[in-house]
Amino acid sequence: MKRLTASNEDIAAFSEMSRKVSFFSQMTVGLLEKIFAFVMLFEYKKGDRICKQGGPGDSFYLVYSGRLVVNVKKGFFSSDKKVAELGPGDFFGEMALLDRTPRTATVECAEDARVFVLLAEHFNEVARGNPEFTAYMKSLAAGRKFELKQQE
Ligand code: CMP
Repeated sequence: MKRLTASNEDIAAFSEMSRKVSFFSQMTVGLLEKIFAFVMLFEYKKGDRICKQGGPGDSFYLVYSGRLVVNVKKGFFSSDKKVAELGPGDFFGEMALLDRTPRTATVECAEDARVFVLLAEHFNEVARGNPEFTAYMKSLAAGRKFELKQQE
């Protein structure tokens, strides 16, 4: 994992990806500028683990490039089961932050990837100032929770 310096082009891509999601289009320019100031860009290699099931929810992520897999392990002796794939424009890591619970799944890189990262404190600050953002994230998390339940 390596932190990259986000160029203007990267920030423009972040803005473009975010705009596709309705809550961002409702955000004020001020709030968007605040997010730009917070956002970090990381590069991961194929096989890297970005977050681990049961681990702490310390960050929120937006996939910039590459393909990631979401794996769940049901019991100590069971093996990982793939529940989803994520690609450019997909968000993850919202569940542990919203529910203040451990990570529900492990997210790993199926190929080299670049990922925008918001620390939990900044995610919470954005959520506090933007009810549409929170509502969208909650509905995304609810759908994923349902999918995870189906796997049980
Ligand atoms: P979190 O529990 O914080 O960390 C693991 C993340 O994997 C989780 O948030 C979701 O963002 C993501 N995730 C869990 N289940 C699914 C699913 N069924 N489909 C897509 N992403 C998921």
